[in-house]
Amino acid sequence: MKALILSGGMGTRLRPFTYSMPKQLVPVANKPILTHCLENVRAIGVEDVAVVVGDRAEDIRAVVGDGSAYGLNVTYLQQEAPLGLAHAVAIAEEFLGDEDFVMYLGDNVLADGIAEPARDFLADRPAARLLLTKVDDPRAYGVAEVDAEGRVRALVEKPQQPRSDLAVIGVYFFTAAVHEAVRAIEPSARGELEITDAIQYLVERGDRVVAGEYSGYWKDTGSPDDLLDCNRVLLRGLHPGVRGEVDAASTLEGHVVVEAGALVERSHLVGPLVVGAGSVVRDSELGPYTALGRDCVLEDAGIRDSIVLDGVSIQGVRGLSGSLIGRSADVRGGEATGRRLIIGDHTRAEVAA
Ligand code: G1P
Repeated sequence: MKALILSGGMGTRLRPFTYSMPKQLVPVANKPILTHCLENVRAIGVEDVAVVVGDRAEDIRAVVGDGSAYGLNVTYLQQEAPLGLAHAVAIAEEFLGDEDFVMYLGDNVLADGIAEPARDFLADRPAARLLLTKVDDPRAYGVAEVDAEGRVRALVEKPQQPRSDLAVIGVYFFTAAVHEAVRAIEPSARGELEITDAIQYLVERGDRVVAGEYSGYWKDTGSPDDLLDCNRVLLRGLHPGVRGEVDAASTLEGHVVVEAGALVERSHLVGPLVVGAGSVVRDSELGPYTALGRDCVLEDAGIRDSIVLDGVSIQGVRGLSGSLIGRSADVRGGEATGRRLIIGDHTRAEVAA
């Protein structure tokens, strides 16, 4: 089986971060979202991966490289414009040949991996296998109608009046039958070749399209709150351990990771939490549910339930929570309680008492 990972798109809901980095590279639990995808496809035995990239191709290449760091051979396919998920399949047709493949949207986080649906797909190789999950508001997703045997009867993209509460997760297993479907469909009203339409074509033609509910944790990381939610879940899964230096005046509670070269002095750390390599934390209170990137400096700071990217400096600000702080941002000021900051790379914020 091969994999097709989609890593284009504008990420408008994740501005300001996506002005300076593709959404797939925003870190959760100190790892880009895309890295979690690569690890999940490697874990089901896939070696050959095509990553479909758009405007931000260079940033993606800088992180993923040739894939060897993940045990993968990565090929890049350039998508000239965001013309739809089925368009991405079309440009990958030559790479995929007649092999089965998993298509994985690079902004989807499946914290419990994809081993179970992969096994189910390989057991009887239907034309397509979808992963579904119950959501509160299905109007934001592809929505499937499924019969008692797990066979998909209909699929609609972002319906105004959803016929079920089962949203389609952004991981799809296909045989090569999908290529004919992709060739047969026309662009939708929003001008995109929708994968939902291609799958609906397979359904109408009488091909077997099946679906099962995903039993693990899933999130389409569209917004800061989605990222923070993922961060909480993935932090719980890290192996605790101190590889950096923690002085005797500091206390550690719960699931704490201190990466190599990090220094913690006179601070109170409450897990789940990660302190990135090379970061310095002094006289601060950190966590729970906080991912601090590499080479950050925190002095006299207090932050919980947050994602702090690389190279950030926070000085003299306590009471931060639910925050996303971009690379090399500089946050300083007086006592703050319950403050929330969503600020992009290289921002400077002064938080008054
Ligand atoms: C895409 C798909 C949609 C699916 C969703 C999952 O939507 O078109 O069917 O439910 O991914 O993340 P998008 O997030 O591109 O709007």
